[in-house]
Amino acid sequence: MTAEGTAAATPLVSVESLTLRAGRDPAAPVLVDRVSLEIAAGESVGLVGESGCGKTLTVLAMAGLLPADVSKAAESRVLFRGRPIEACEPSPLGREIGFVFQDPAGSINPVLRVGHQIAEVVRTLKGTSRSDAHARSLELLAEVGIADPAAKARRFPGELSGGERQRVGVALALAGDPALLIADEPTTGVDMIVQEQLLTLIEGLRERRGMALVLVSHDLAVVAEVCDRVEVVYAGEIIERGAVDRVLTDPRHPYTQGLIRCLPGRAGHGVRVAAIPGAVPVPGAWPPGCRFRPRCAHAHDRCQASPGLLLLPDARAARCWLVNEGGAP
Ligand SMILES: Nc1ncnc2c1ncn2[C@@H]1O[C@H](COP(=O)(O)OP(=O)(O)OP(=O)(O)O)[C@@H](O)[C@H]1O
Ligand code: SF4
Ligand SMILES: [Mg+2]
Repeated sequence: MTAEGTAAATPLVSVESLTLRAGRDPAAPVLVDRVSLEIAAGESVGLVGESGCGKTLTVLAMAGLLPADVSKAAESRVLFRGRPIEACEPSPLGREIGFVFQDPAGSINPVLRVGHQIAEVVRTLKGTSRSDAHARSLELLAEVGIADPAAKARRFPGELSGGERQRVGVALALAGDPALLIADEPTTGVDMIVQEQLLTLIEGLRERRGMALVLVSHDLAVVAEVCDRVEVVYAGEIIERGAVDRVLTDPRHPYTQGLIRCLPGRAGHGVRVAAIPGAVPVPGAWPPGCRFRPRCAHAHDRCQASPGLLLLPDARAARCWLVNEGGAP
């Protein structure tokens, strides 16, 4: 899939049949199963799904950051600007790809003052002098909405609020002026007001800088607020994709329909309705056929075989036999 008007352009990122396993053994459990997607320059894409579906591993693979104990299948390819990411020299991570980690501890060192940390990243990536890097660190702290950057730059991460630490994580990710920002659950552990502020910040940064954005969340409402396009992930597979507004108003997969029923306000009184019954099956215990079958109210005989990802008009797709059969679930 390519962005409107850029049919001939090389996507920023192409993930082709990404299969990831726990360990090197070819018989080890599959964690991410033949995921293919593309991110065009400047577009904002949300990756949404419940815990354990494979969202973080997918975006780590996009950044060339897979943990050592996770292996990528030989046929899987991750291309950055058309080149295998592992062959890109220097690595685009930090330079062209900024990564905001699900756990801020993944990028923020607790024993270094935040201004110093940002300045060191700027120096490494840009080769600037110490004083220029220091000045740039203050600019970045201001850009991510930290009040009184000069004073906050002298603090240790533990001396900041949770929301400020997340902003520092965003500032670190921006230090190389990336073309793509990947934000993995950037609002984890903060209250609703801070969540709103962080989402507004990320949306504004993306627009001002013209970056592409991949936003990972278990919450479809978060993705709907910031992204143009959504990829819904379930048990290691993409099960639905499309423009966010279309998917929200006309979800084609029963899992997406369940996620939408869980959104606040859908019950009519600003409260969440019942969650989807059951739980996501863990890797190694995915049921044969449609992996959503044990939780699906529409399951029928045919669902004992795996449905493919059916391509639909308007760059939409859904993985459900009912869609394949033309019946609306
Ligand atoms: N290094 C690893 N070794 C083995 N299994 C792993 C490893 N990292 C993740 N997994 C497993 O892979 C599956 C997908 O993990 P991932 O972190 O991508 O999920 P997620 O969708 O990001 O979930 P969450 O919303 O909880 O962050 C999970 O079952 C997880 O336990
Ligand atoms: S393929 Fe069958 S079990 Fe799977 S989501 Fe569709 S109707 Fe439900
Ligand atoms: Mg995750």
